[in-house]
Amino acid sequence: MVDNPYLPVEAKIEKIIDETPNIKTFVLKPSRKIKFETGQFVQLTILGIAEAPFTPSSSPSQNERIELTIMKVGLLTDKLYEMKEGEIVGIRGPYGCGYSLGDFYDKEVLILGGGVGMAPLRSLLLTLLENVDKFRRIVLCYGARTPEDIVYKYAFPEWKKKGKLEILRSVDKATPGWNETEGLVTVLLDKVKMELRNSVAVVCGPPIMMKFGTLKLMDLGYKPESIYLSMEKNMSCGLGKCGHCALGKYYVCKDGPVFRYDLIKDVPDIWL
Ligand SMILES: Cc1cc2nc3c(=O)[nH]c(=O)nc-3n(C[C@H](O)[C@H](O)[C@H](O)COP(=O)(O)OP(=O)(O)OC[C@H]3O[C@@H](n4cnc5c(N)ncnc54)[C@H](O)[C@@H]3O)c2cc1C
Ligand code: FES
Repeated sequence: MVDNPYLPVEAKIEKIIDETPNIKTFVLKPSRKIKFETGQFVQLTILGIAEAPFTPSSSPSQNERIELTIMKVGLLTDKLYEMKEGEIVGIRGPYGCGYSLGDFYDKEVLILGGGVGMAPLRSLLLTLLENVDKFRRIVLCYGARTPEDIVYKYAFPEWKKKGKLEILRSVDKATPGWNETEGLVTVLLDKVKMELRNSVAVVCGPPIMMKFGTLKLMDLGYKPESIYLSMEKNMSCGLGKCGHCALGKYYVCKDGPVFRYDLIKDVPDIWL
């Protein structure tokens, strides 16, 4: 019998971690292992409600569990936020193409993240750290609206101890006690000196941040072929069949969600 690709695997919500007032991380234990590559996405189903795409925020090497870091924005996510540890959701996938890590070997990797866009980037960061000798240097520039909106606050102290990894953080609006940068995340790019000829940049965040982050990277001298973007489009099948996620000649679910900027830069309205 042929497996039905639309049929989700049951996954138990083992743990729910409050990240910010509107972002939680759901630690899921699927009833059978789901092997994914960093940057690929899965479709999360709440039976009888809806399904939606999310990129695992955990490392693929931790293959017993999948963590999804999810912002509450609508139908499915509202319902998910009412669920408790021990309840069951569905997962199908993984889908699409993730980060081609081989392209990053021996290079300086600059990661630029904003808000919940840190979810796929955490998966990438953990993967890079597990293979740290393969990369020359890793720099994470992460921005959130306020200090309260920073995800993975508990993980940063541990990450800061890692060699080869530099972390710069900014908030749009500081509150008392914040002693890092205040300003849009792009201001952090003025503070890092990357060896441009030997560097790649990876960007994920809200569309406006992706747009201005990418333009700033270009101003700094990055070539479009050295910039990798995690694109989001409305999805349905996730399998390259329905056309909902078209981005120029590409389907985000099949050809992405990670794209090199040179491949999509001429598609109209890519930041919408
Ligand atoms: C490949 C891929 C990976 C993704 N990974 C993640 C992830 O790791 N974490 C995560 O939180 N989200 C992620 N998203 C976005 C996520 O799929 C949507 O937020 C989700 O579909 C919303 O479903 P919903 O039913 O709760 O909202 P809906 O009821 O479908 O939407 C409600 C309203 O919210 C708006 N909306 C939808 N998405 C967003 C958004 N991202 N930000 C602000 N407003 C929005 C809609 O335009 C609509 O007006 C990803 C999307 C894609 C395509
Ligand atoms: S979601 Fe159906 S083609 Fe991409």
